[in-house]
Amino acid sequence: MPERYLVTSALPYANGPLHVGQLAGAYMPADSYARYLRLARKDVIYICGSDEHGVPITVRAEAEGVTPQKLVDRYHAELAKTFDDLAFTFDNYGRTTLREIHYPLSQRFFTNLFKDGYVTPRETEQLYCENCNRFLPDRYVEGTCPHCGAAGARGDQCENCGRWLAAAELGDPRCKVCEGRPVVRKTTHWYLELPKFADRLREWLAGNTHWRDNVRNFCLSWLDEGLADRAITRDIDWGVPVPLDEARGKVLYVWFDAPIGYITSTIEWARKLGEPERWKDYWLDADTKIIHFIGKDNIVFHAIVWPAMLMGQPEGFNLPFQIPANEFLNLEGQKISTSRNWAVWVDDALADFQVDALRYYLTANAPETRDADFSFAEMATRVNSELADIFGNLVNRALTFAKNYLGNEVPRAGALKPPDERLLDFTARQLDVEANYIENFEMRAALAAALDIARAGNKYYNDQEPWAWRERDRARAETILNVACRLAAALSTAFDPFTPVAAAEIRRMLALEQPLSWEEAKTPAVREGAPLGDVKILIEKIDEGKVAAQLAALKESAGEGKAAAVETAEEKEKTAPTEEDMSEEYVTMDDVKKLGMVVAEVKTCERVEGADKLLKMTVDIGGEDRPIVAGIAPWYEPEELVGKKIVVVKNMVPAKIRGVQSRGMLLAAQHHDVVKVLALDGDLPAGAEVL
Ligand code: MF3
Ligand code: ZN
Repeated sequence: MPERYLVTSALPYANGPLHVGQLAGAYMPADSYARYLRLARKDVIYICGSDEHGVPITVRAEAEGVTPQKLVDRYHAELAKTFDDLAFTFDNYGRTTLREIHYPLSQRFFTNLFKDGYVTPRETEQLYCENCNRFLPDRYVEGTCPHCGAAGARGDQCENCGRWLAAAELGDPRCKVCEGRPVVRKTTHWYLELPKFADRLREWLAGNTHWRDNVRNFCLSWLDEGLADRAITRDIDWGVPVPLDEARGKVLYVWFDAPIGYITSTIEWARKLGEPERWKDYWLDADTKIIHFIGKDNIVFHAIVWPAMLMGQPEGFNLPFQIPANEFLNLEGQKISTSRNWAVWVDDALADFQVDALRYYLTANAPETRDADFSFAEMATRVNSELADIFGNLVNRALTFAKNYLGNEVPRAGALKPPDERLLDFTARQLDVEANYIENFEMRAALAAALDIARAGNKYYNDQEPWAWRERDRARAETILNVACRLAAALSTAFDPFTPVAAAEIRRMLALEQPLSWEEAKTPAVREGAPLGDVKILIEKIDEGKVAAQLAALKESAGEGKAAAVETAEEKEKTAPTEEDMSEEYVTMDDVKKLGMVVAEVKTCERVEGADKLLKMTVDIGGEDRPIVAGIAPWYEPEELVGKKIVVVKNMVPAKIRGVQSRGMLLAAQHHDVVKVLALDGDLPAGAEVL
């Protein structure tokens, strides 16, 4: 059976340009993942599109004095261009106002759920503005917050205290458009009865043991708290019409139709291809894995509501296989806020920085397991000292040498010496390491693994000193440069998921028409004797002036107005691996990191009944509790361990030991018949990495 992948990124609202926080969350990792899968020769399509309905669109359109359609037309085009500029590889970038496909399919989803009793009408009371002649969506109402008393709280949330509200709770509510005082009126809405899916959802979620624990546990506890019915219709005139006579004038809630956009964009792709049925391979054939990349604020919709919507259809749609959800990216130490204009728009960043520089930094600093912070100064430091100095520099210096001193063609190889072979072996192994990380959605670590290849290449190049051989033994010089070119070809593949522009540049310089597949890159072949392309600087260094200018512009637009003081990020010492690091008996830093060792705090500990060697405990590995079983009962009383900070391998294969779940491995040392648990010398919070 061929393995097939459907990769998606959350459909961005077409009510504004894209900012770096969005890019880091749901887009960068997805494009990297899709690029990798293609190089690994998998059947994959990468699907996205604009989310063009909903109140955020109408609010913005009203503010700009244009129709919602005009507004989304503009931003849809702008978003599509931004993704193009970023070298994104969507197989289709669709839109939810694609009326001939998206509307009927969304309506069919509704009708199917309705027919089977999963959607039912209910009368509710809502605020109505008699001036404007309409029901007011939550965001159209402002009033005083019932919790903190702040004025100007919105109908869905108070910005001051952050609490979620219902519009009806607001004191002294006002219509945001006309400032009038709304009245309460009855209206009917249709509700998706999520509780009817609770058992199926629970079973499905419990079986998704390949998910990140935080996402799965979050959803399971959401289920434990009890699901509530959700209104899936709205009283506005922008959206997909509800397909019922008695619901005239109402539209489907944007969160109902938006995820269906993943399917309609796939259908659009298939039609453009001239194979209109092909979308079914991805949505209906159970061999396809659907991977939804999202930001953490979208988890509930993708892991609970959307699967329920799919379960309620007769076609037997595939459910999401994986939902990599990233945390948030802050900006210069503060939360990104588009309303306060505390945001870096991708287009503005691309005016000053190379695509690859931005892509590199957003991956190297991805908010994968915790929130991350975007800082221009840090971006400059990392791009300059890592991407440019290590990766770009190696390729540029080797190719310049070949060009200037070895006849301007891809050098030919003579007999390989041990260091040549070691470098190539190391490269092959690192490509596996990198691939494993990508398949595990750990893009930061994958990129670090790719950079380690370039690091080893620099070390090799310095040690082999091709310039010293040029006069003495030209064949040896050519062999070294041939190895360097092969390494560059492998790097072109290893970096393609992350810095695709530079990757393509390498291929141009080496006169390679195609990227090497992931497998081919492990034994990279070059076209010996082919004329080299012009050598251009692969990665431009970012100068401090640009950093200062961007920071000043950011503060200016956020209303702070004062010129920015540029803080230079602490420069991390990076050492190249030594020759020995590349032989099999040694492990690299990445191998050590791969173990996922962290500080853990023992919360509870008890004996396992019927197993006199075993203790079972709950340990906090940094905001997450894990059950762990360890064979240390002969040496420890359970109470002795509670409160201790120990070391745990958190990505140990989950196991059932004597019927008890164990999700991690505790580290201990043994000498003859004495066992001691590894504990921390001093205090650090649970979750701290062990390196
Ligand atoms: N537009 C939403 C947001 O930006 C995401 C929609 S994802 C989809 O938060 F699945 F609904 F399409
Ligand atoms: Zn009004």
